[in-house]
Amino acid sequence: MLEQLKLLKSEAEIEIAAATDLKTLNNLRVKYLGKKGPMTEIMKQMGKLSAEERPKMGSLANEVRTALTEAISEKQTILEEEAINEKLKSETIDVTLPGSKPSIGTSHLLTQVVEEMEDMFIGMGYKIAEGPEVELDYYNFEALNLPKDHPARDMQDSFYITENTLLRTQTSPVQARTMEKHDFKNGSIKVICPGKVYRRDNDDATHSHQFTQIEGLVVGENITFADLKGTLTVLAKTMFGEEREIRLRPSFFPFTEPSVEMDISCFKCGGKGCRVCKGTGWIEILGSGMVHPNVLEMSGIDSTRYSGFAFGIGPERVAMLKYAVDDIRHLYTNDLRFTKQFQSTETGEI
Ligand code: DAH
Repeated sequence: MLEQLKLLKSEAEIEIAAATDLKTLNNLRVKYLGKKGPMTEIMKQMGKLSAEERPKMGSLANEVRTALTEAISEKQTILEEEAINEKLKSETIDVTLPGSKPSIGTSHLLTQVVEEMEDMFIGMGYKIAEGPEVELDYYNFEALNLPKDHPARDMQDSFYITENTLLRTQTSPVQARTMEKHDFKNGSIKVICPGKVYRRDNDDATHSHQFTQIEGLVVGENITFADLKGTLTVLAKTMFGEEREIRLRPSFFPFTEPSVEMDISCFKCGGKGCRVCKGTGWIEILGSGMVHPNVLEMSGIDSTRYSGFAFGIGPERVAMLKYAVDDIRHLYTNDLRFTKQFQSTETGEI
Protein backbone atom coordinates (compact mmCIF):
# COMPACT_ATOMS: atom_id res chain seq x y z
CA MET A 1 0.00 0.00 0.00
CA LEU A 2 2.92 2.23 0.73
CA GLU A 3 4.13 1.74 -2.83
CA GLN A 4 0.63 2.37 -4.14
CA LEU A 5 0.41 5.68 -2.26
CA LYS A 6 3.85 6.82 -3.38
CA LEU A 7 3.10 5.96 -6.99
CA LEU A 8 -0.24 7.71 -6.83
CA LYS A 9 1.35 10.83 -5.35
CA SER A 10 4.11 11.11 -7.91
CA GLU A 11 1.79 10.36 -10.84
CA ALA A 12 -0.72 12.93 -9.66
CA GLU A 13 1.98 15.55 -9.05
CA ILE A 14 3.32 15.14 -12.57
CA GLU A 15 -0.13 15.51 -14.09
CA ILE A 16 -1.01 18.50 -11.92
CA ALA A 17 2.21 20.24 -12.86
CA ALA A 18 1.50 19.61 -16.53
CA ALA A 19 -2.04 21.02 -16.46
CA THR A 20 -2.30 24.10 -18.65
CA ASP A 21 -5.85 25.15 -17.96
CA LEU A 22 -8.39 25.25 -15.17
CA LYS A 23 -10.66 22.68 -16.74
CA THR A 24 -7.95 20.03 -16.94
CA LEU A 25 -6.98 20.83 -13.36
CA ASN A 26 -10.53 20.33 -12.18
CA ASN A 27 -10.69 17.01 -14.00
CA LEU A 28 -7.53 15.96 -12.15
CA ARG A 29 -9.10 16.93 -8.83
CA VAL A 30 -12.02 14.62 -9.59
CA LYS A 31 -9.78 11.92 -10.93
CA TYR A 32 -7.47 11.70 -7.88
CA LEU A 33 -9.49 13.02 -4.96
CA GLY A 34 -13.05 12.33 -6.09
CA LYS A 35 -15.32 9.71 -4.51
CA LYS A 36 -14.63 7.22 -7.23
CA GLY A 37 -10.90 7.94 -7.31
CA PRO A 38 -7.89 5.89 -6.14
CA MET A 39 -7.71 7.62 -2.72
CA THR A 40 -11.16 6.36 -1.81
CA GLU A 41 -10.15 2.93 -3.03
CA ILE A 42 -7.06 2.94 -0.80
CA MET A 43 -9.04 4.07 2.23
CA LYS A 44 -11.43 1.20 1.71
CA GLN A 45 -8.55 -1.22 1.87
CA MET A 46 -7.37 0.10 5.26
CA GLY A 47 -9.62 -2.34 7.04
CA LYS A 48 -7.54 -5.23 5.76
CA LEU A 49 -4.36 -3.93 7.39
CA SER A 50 -3.06 -4.97 10.76
CA ALA A 51 -3.83 -2.80 13.80
CA GLU A 52 -0.20 -1.76 13.86
CA GLU A 53 0.02 -0.71 10.25
CA ARG A 54 -3.39 0.94 9.99
CA PRO A 55 -2.61 4.25 11.77
CA LYS A 56 0.69 4.63 9.91
CA MET A 57 -0.93 4.07 6.56
CA GLY A 58 -3.87 6.21 7.61
CA SER A 59 -1.72 9.20 8.37
CA LEU A 60 0.37 8.63 5.25
CA ALA A 61 -2.79 8.55 3.13
CA ASN A 62 -3.90 11.80 4.75
CA GLU A 63 -0.55 13.39 4.01
CA VAL A 64 -0.82 12.38 0.38
CA ARG A 65 -4.38 13.76 0.20
CA THR A 66 -3.30 17.06 1.80
CA ALA A 67 -0.27 17.32 -0.46
CA LEU A 68 -2.35 16.76 -3.59
CA THR A 69 -5.06 19.20 -2.43
CA GLU A 70 -2.41 21.84 -1.86
CA ALA A 71 -0.68 21.14 -5.16
CA ILE A 72 -3.98 21.52 -6.96
CA SER A 73 -4.89 24.77 -5.22
CA GLU A 74 -1.42 26.23 -5.86
CA LYS A 75 -1.66 25.29 -9.48
CA GLN A 76 -5.13 26.81 -9.59
CA THR A 77 -3.81 30.14 -8.32
CA ILE A 78 -1.10 30.10 -10.97
CA LEU A 79 -3.50 29.26 -13.78
CA GLU A 80 -6.00 31.91 -12.67
CA GLU A 81 -3.32 34.56 -12.65
CA GLU A 82 -2.18 33.48 -16.07
CA ALA A 83 -5.74 33.79 -17.39
CA ILE A 84 -6.06 37.31 -16.01
CA ASN A 85 -2.72 38.34 -17.52
CA GLU A 86 -3.76 36.89 -20.87
CA LYS A 87 -6.98 38.91 -20.76
CA LEU A 88 -5.21 42.12 -19.79
CA LYS A 89 -2.69 41.59 -22.55
CA SER A 90 -5.41 41.21 -25.15
CA GLU A 91 -7.09 44.36 -23.89
CA THR A 92 -4.10 46.65 -23.86
CA ILE A 93 -4.26 49.77 -25.99
CA ASP A 94 -1.28 50.94 -27.90
CA VAL A 95 -1.48 54.65 -27.22
CA THR A 96 1.23 55.34 -29.75
CA LEU A 97 -0.92 54.17 -32.67
CA PRO A 98 -2.31 57.01 -34.81
CA GLY A 99 -5.99 57.70 -34.03
CA SER A 100 -8.73 57.16 -36.58
CA LYS A 101 -10.52 60.41 -37.28
CA PRO A 102 -14.30 60.02 -37.11
CA SER A 103 -15.88 61.39 -40.24
CA ILE A 104 -18.93 63.46 -39.51
CA GLY A 105 -21.66 63.83 -42.08
CA THR A 106 -22.97 67.25 -42.96
CA SER A 107 -26.13 68.26 -44.73
CA HIS A 108 -26.20 68.11 -48.50
CA LEU A 109 -25.69 71.30 -50.51
CA LEU A 110 -29.30 71.18 -51.66
CA THR A 111 -30.55 70.79 -48.09
CA GLN A 112 -28.39 73.74 -47.07
CA VAL A 113 -29.90 75.95 -49.77
CA VAL A 114 -33.46 74.84 -48.93
CA GLU A 115 -32.87 75.44 -45.22
CA GLU A 116 -31.38 78.85 -45.88
CA MET A 117 -34.54 79.87 -47.74
CA GLU A 118 -36.79 78.27 -45.13
CA ASP A 119 -35.02 80.20 -42.36
CA MET A 120 -35.43 83.42 -44.25
CA PHE A 121 -39.17 82.96 -44.78
CA ILE A 122 -39.77 81.69 -41.26
CA GLY A 123 -38.05 84.89 -40.12
CA MET A 124 -40.67 86.83 -42.08
CA GLY A 125 -43.51 84.99 -40.37
CA TYR A 126 -44.21 82.27 -42.93
CA LYS A 127 -45.27 78.73 -41.99
CA ILE A 128 -44.11 75.60 -43.78
CA ALA A 129 -46.85 73.64 -45.55
CA GLU A 130 -46.47 70.18 -47.05
CA GLY A 131 -48.41 68.12 -49.53
CA PRO A 132 -48.24 64.62 -51.02
CA GLU A 133 -45.81 63.73 -53.81
CA VAL A 134 -48.37 61.34 -55.27
CA GLU A 135 -50.97 63.94 -56.06
CA LEU A 136 -54.45 64.08 -57.49
CA ASP A 137 -54.76 65.48 -60.98
CA TYR A 138 -57.32 67.84 -59.48
CA TYR A 139 -54.82 69.62 -57.20
CA ASN A 140 -51.86 69.44 -59.55
CA PHE A 141 -53.80 70.93 -62.46
CA GLU A 142 -57.51 71.59 -62.22
CA ALA A 143 -57.58 73.56 -58.99
CA LEU A 144 -54.77 75.66 -60.46
CA ASN A 145 -56.85 76.80 -63.38
CA LEU A 146 -55.62 74.08 -65.72
CA PRO A 147 -58.70 72.15 -66.79
CA LYS A 148 -58.31 68.88 -68.68
CA ASP A 149 -57.14 69.49 -72.27
CA HIS A 150 -55.74 72.91 -71.32
CA PRO A 151 -52.77 73.45 -73.65
CA ALA A 152 -50.53 74.59 -70.77
CA ARG A 153 -50.56 71.03 -69.40
CA ASP A 154 -48.07 70.29 -72.17
CA MET A 155 -45.54 72.48 -70.39
CA GLN A 156 -45.16 69.74 -67.84
CA ASP A 157 -44.77 66.18 -68.98
CA SER A 158 -46.17 64.17 -66.14
CA PHE A 159 -45.72 60.73 -64.66
CA TYR A 160 -49.31 59.53 -64.36
CA ILE A 161 -50.04 56.66 -62.00
CA THR A 162 -53.74 56.30 -62.75
CA GLU A 163 -56.03 58.55 -64.73
CA ASN A 164 -56.50 60.76 -61.70
CA THR A 165 -53.22 60.46 -59.82
CA LEU A 166 -49.71 61.45 -60.78
CA LEU A 167 -46.35 62.33 -59.28
CA ARG A 168 -46.77 66.05 -58.71
CA THR A 169 -45.05 68.11 -61.39
CA GLN A 170 -44.83 71.20 -59.18
CA THR A 171 -45.30 72.23 -55.56
CA SER A 172 -48.17 74.54 -56.61
CA PRO A 173 -50.87 71.96 -55.64
CA VAL A 174 -49.94 72.66 -52.01
CA GLN A 175 -51.28 76.18 -52.65
CA ALA A 176 -54.73 74.78 -53.43
CA ARG A 177 -54.64 72.36 -50.50
CA THR A 178 -53.62 75.16 -48.12
CA MET A 179 -56.26 77.59 -49.34
CA GLU A 180 -59.00 74.97 -49.26
CA LYS A 181 -58.61 74.30 -45.55
CA HIS A 182 -57.67 77.82 -44.43
CA ASP A 183 -59.87 79.83 -42.11
CA PHE A 184 -59.19 83.59 -42.29
CA LYS A 185 -60.32 83.92 -38.69
CA ASN A 186 -56.77 82.74 -37.95
CA GLY A 187 -55.21 85.50 -40.06
CA SER A 188 -53.85 85.55 -43.60
CA ILE A 189 -52.15 82.70 -45.43
CA LYS A 190 -48.38 82.98 -45.43
CA VAL A 191 -46.73 79.70 -46.34
CA ILE A 192 -43.83 78.21 -48.20
CA CYS A 193 -44.02 74.64 -49.47
CA PRO A 194 -40.67 72.99 -50.12
CA GLY A 195 -40.66 69.55 -51.70
CA LYS A 196 -39.77 67.14 -54.46
CA VAL A 197 -41.41 67.29 -57.86
CA TYR A 198 -41.25 64.99 -60.89
CA ARG A 199 -41.24 65.52 -64.65
CA ARG A 200 -40.85 63.17 -67.61
CA ASP A 201 -37.61 64.81 -68.69
CA ASN A 202 -34.49 63.09 -69.92
CA ASP A 203 -31.72 63.73 -67.42
CA ASP A 204 -28.92 65.94 -68.67
CA ALA A 205 -26.76 68.76 -67.29
CA THR A 206 -29.76 71.01 -66.66
CA HIS A 207 -32.70 68.59 -66.44
CA SER A 208 -33.62 65.99 -63.88
CA HIS A 209 -36.72 63.78 -63.73
CA GLN A 210 -36.90 64.63 -60.05
CA PHE A 211 -35.99 67.94 -58.51
CA THR A 212 -36.98 70.36 -55.78
CA GLN A 213 -39.19 73.41 -55.65
CA ILE A 214 -40.13 75.90 -53.01
CA GLU A 215 -43.56 77.36 -53.47
CA GLY A 216 -44.58 80.58 -51.74
CA LEU A 217 -48.15 81.71 -51.13
CA VAL A 218 -49.53 84.78 -49.38
CA VAL A 219 -53.29 85.46 -49.36
CA GLY A 220 -55.09 88.06 -47.30
CA GLU A 221 -56.85 91.39 -47.52
CA ASN A 222 -55.12 94.13 -49.51
CA ILE A 223 -52.23 91.98 -50.72
CA THR A 224 -50.82 93.76 -53.74
CA PHE A 225 -48.17 93.40 -56.39
CA ALA A 226 -45.97 95.71 -54.30
CA ASP A 227 -45.94 93.08 -51.54
CA LEU A 228 -44.81 90.50 -54.07
CA LYS A 229 -42.06 92.75 -55.38
CA GLY A 230 -40.84 93.55 -51.87
CA THR A 231 -40.78 89.89 -50.89
CA LEU A 232 -38.90 88.84 -54.02
CA THR A 233 -36.36 91.61 -53.49
CA VAL A 234 -35.64 90.36 -49.95
CA LEU A 235 -35.34 86.81 -51.29
CA ALA A 236 -32.86 87.86 -54.00
CA LYS A 237 -30.71 89.88 -51.59
CA THR A 238 -30.68 87.16 -48.92
CA MET A 239 -29.73 84.40 -51.32
CA PHE A 240 -27.42 86.29 -53.68
CA GLY A 241 -26.09 89.31 -51.81
CA GLU A 242 -27.24 92.73 -50.61
CA GLU A 243 -26.32 94.50 -53.89
CA ARG A 244 -28.69 92.37 -55.98
CA GLU A 245 -31.40 94.13 -57.93
CA ILE A 246 -34.42 92.41 -59.39
CA ARG A 247 -36.24 92.73 -62.67
CA LEU A 248 -39.73 91.43 -63.36
CA ARG A 249 -40.67 90.34 -66.87
CA PRO A 250 -44.24 89.58 -67.95
CA SER A 251 -44.86 85.90 -68.35
CA PHE A 252 -47.64 83.34 -68.28
CA PHE A 253 -48.72 80.83 -65.67
CA PRO A 254 -52.33 79.61 -65.62
CA PHE A 255 -52.65 80.07 -61.87
CA THR A 256 -51.43 83.66 -61.66
CA GLU A 257 -52.63 86.87 -63.30
CA PRO A 258 -50.59 88.89 -63.96
CA SER A 259 -47.65 86.49 -64.11
CA VAL A 260 -44.01 87.46 -64.05
CA GLU A 261 -40.59 85.93 -64.17
CA MET A 262 -37.97 87.37 -61.89
CA ASP A 263 -34.39 88.01 -62.91
CA ILE A 264 -31.64 89.09 -60.56
CA SER A 265 -28.72 91.28 -61.54
CA CYS A 266 -25.75 88.98 -62.20
CA PHE A 267 -23.88 88.31 -58.98
CA LYS A 268 -20.77 87.41 -60.92
CA CYS A 269 -20.27 90.52 -63.05
CA GLY A 270 -22.65 92.88 -61.26
CA GLY A 271 -24.64 93.39 -64.46
CA LYS A 272 -21.88 94.14 -66.98
CA GLY A 273 -22.32 90.84 -68.78
CA CYS A 274 -20.35 87.62 -68.36
CA ARG A 275 -20.54 83.86 -68.97
CA VAL A 276 -22.82 83.19 -65.99
CA CYS A 277 -25.49 85.67 -67.21
CA LYS A 278 -24.79 84.85 -70.86
CA GLY A 279 -23.80 88.45 -71.48
CA THR A 280 -27.19 89.90 -70.48
CA GLY A 281 -26.35 91.07 -66.97
CA TRP A 282 -29.47 89.29 -65.67
CA ILE A 283 -30.17 85.78 -64.43
CA GLU A 284 -33.63 84.20 -64.46
CA ILE A 285 -34.51 82.87 -61.03
CA LEU A 286 -38.21 82.19 -60.54
CA GLY A 287 -41.81 82.39 -61.70
CA SER A 288 -44.48 84.24 -59.81
CA GLY A 289 -47.57 86.40 -59.95
CA MET A 290 -50.83 87.43 -58.33
CA VAL A 291 -53.03 84.44 -57.55
CA HIS A 292 -55.67 84.09 -60.28
CA PRO A 293 -59.19 84.85 -58.99
CA ASN A 294 -60.38 81.51 -60.44
CA VAL A 295 -57.82 79.71 -58.26
CA LEU A 296 -58.98 81.57 -55.15
CA GLU A 297 -62.64 80.83 -55.92
CA MET A 298 -62.01 77.14 -56.66
CA SER A 299 -60.49 76.80 -53.21
CA GLY A 300 -63.47 78.52 -51.63
CA ILE A 301 -61.91 81.97 -51.15
CA ASP A 302 -63.87 85.12 -51.96
CA SER A 303 -61.76 86.80 -54.64
CA THR A 304 -63.58 90.11 -54.22
CA ARG A 305 -62.37 90.33 -50.66
CA TYR A 306 -59.03 88.53 -50.68
CA SER A 307 -56.05 88.67 -52.99
CA GLY A 308 -52.65 87.06 -52.94
CA PHE A 309 -49.35 86.38 -54.61
CA ALA A 310 -47.45 83.19 -55.29
CA PHE A 311 -44.02 82.21 -56.49
CA GLY A 312 -42.10 79.06 -57.26
CA ILE A 313 -38.33 78.75 -57.07
CA GLY A 314 -35.95 75.88 -57.86
CA PRO A 315 -33.33 75.35 -55.14
CA GLU A 316 -31.20 73.30 -57.58
CA ARG A 317 -30.89 76.33 -59.81
CA VAL A 318 -30.03 78.54 -56.84
CA ALA A 319 -27.40 76.07 -55.64
CA MET A 320 -25.91 75.67 -59.12
CA LEU A 321 -25.68 79.41 -59.69
CA LYS A 322 -24.34 80.23 -56.25
CA TYR A 323 -21.71 77.52 -56.17
CA ALA A 324 -20.92 77.30 -59.90
CA VAL A 325 -22.12 73.70 -60.17
CA ASP A 326 -22.18 72.93 -63.90
CA ASP A 327 -24.32 69.78 -63.89
CA ILE A 328 -27.54 69.18 -61.95
CA ARG A 329 -26.67 65.47 -61.73
CA HIS A 330 -23.87 66.32 -59.30
CA LEU A 331 -26.63 67.09 -56.81
CA TYR A 332 -28.05 63.57 -57.08
CA THR A 333 -25.20 61.15 -57.71
CA ASN A 334 -23.73 61.51 -54.22
CA ASP A 335 -20.11 61.50 -55.27
CA LEU A 336 -18.32 62.29 -52.01
CA ARG A 337 -15.65 64.25 -53.85
CA PHE A 338 -18.44 66.66 -54.77
CA THR A 339 -20.59 66.62 -51.65
CA LYS A 340 -17.60 67.05 -49.31
CA GLN A 341 -16.84 70.42 -50.87
CA PHE A 342 -19.94 71.78 -49.22
CA GLN A 343 -19.45 71.02 -45.55
CA SER A 344 -21.95 73.18 -43.79
CA THR A 345 -20.45 75.05 -40.90
CA GLU A 346 -23.67 74.66 -38.96
CA THR A 347 -23.48 70.90 -38.70
CA GLY A 348 -19.83 71.45 -37.84
CA GLU A 349 -16.64 69.66 -38.58
CA ILE A 350 -14.25 68.69 -35.83
N1 DAH B 1 -45.25 75.88 -60.69
C1 DAH B 1 -44.46 76.61 -61.65
C2 DAH B 1 -43.58 75.62 -62.38
O1 DAH B 1 -43.32 74.58 -61.90
C3 DAH B 1 -43.64 77.65 -60.97
C4 DAH B 1 -44.48 78.76 -60.47
C5 DAH B 1 -44.71 79.88 -61.27
C6 DAH B 1 -45.05 78.73 -59.22
C7 DAH B 1 -45.48 80.90 -60.85
C8 DAH B 1 -45.82 79.76 -58.76
C9 DAH B 1 -46.03 80.85 -59.60
O2 DAH B 1 -46.39 79.77 -57.57
O3 DAH B 1 -46.81 81.86 -59.15
O4 DAH B 1 -43.13 75.95 -63.45
